[in-house]
Amino acid sequence: MLRKLVDNKFANVATFYVVSVFLLMISPPLLIFKIMYNIFVSFRPTDMNIRGKVVLITGASSGIGECLAYEYAKREAFLVIVARREERLEKVAEKARGIGSPDVLVICGDVSDFNDCRRFIDEAINHFGRCKISFHS
Ligand SMILES: NC(=O)c1ccc[n+]([C@@H]2O[C@H](COP(=O)([O-])OP(=O)(O)OC[C@H]3O[C@@H](n4cnc5c(N)ncnc54)[C@H](OP(=O)(O)O)[C@@H]3O)[C@@H](O)[C@H]2O)c1
Repeated sequence: MLRKLVDNKFANVATFYVVSVFLLMISPPLLIFKIMYNIFVSFRPTDMNIRGKVVLITGASSGIGECLAYEYAKREAFLVIVARREERLEKVAEKARGIGSPDVLVICGDVSDFNDCRRFIDEAINHFGRCKISFHS
């Protein structure tokens, strides 16, 4: 009985020391990893980088394209929205301006038409002087 108690005590103390040494050994690398990770995260592109960028979205009159337009608008991006239904695009543009986009260019176009594609890229660049392109359809 006494022997068992002593053995248990010894096992507890040994475990405590082994765990303590292990933690001491892994702490510095963990700390370094955490610091490096935080530095990396702080330089990673974030939503803020979208602000002031020109984003062209095709299929923006409804569905996913419309939602994308509002997401970019919230982040204060300039928008070029493209689809075939002009009246729907105008509504999206109005809402996007209200949400935060500084300028929204509406272009009616059919993405299955090569000349239309060329035209809406040209119009976007003529209007804004630059364009970050995000295609969707
Ligand atoms: N919703 C989903 O859960 C989901 C999931 C996976 C994949 N998808 C795919 O993602 C795409 C978009 O889905 P959605 O739900 O956003 O569909 P949607 O609401 O029908 O939107 C399609 C958009 O594309 C435009 N569009 C269609 N043909 C066009 C053309 N020839 N030229 C220019 N614009 C054109 C439409 O505008 P106009 O009619 O005014 O031109 C509309 O703005 C579809 O291909 C769909 O299959 C959707």
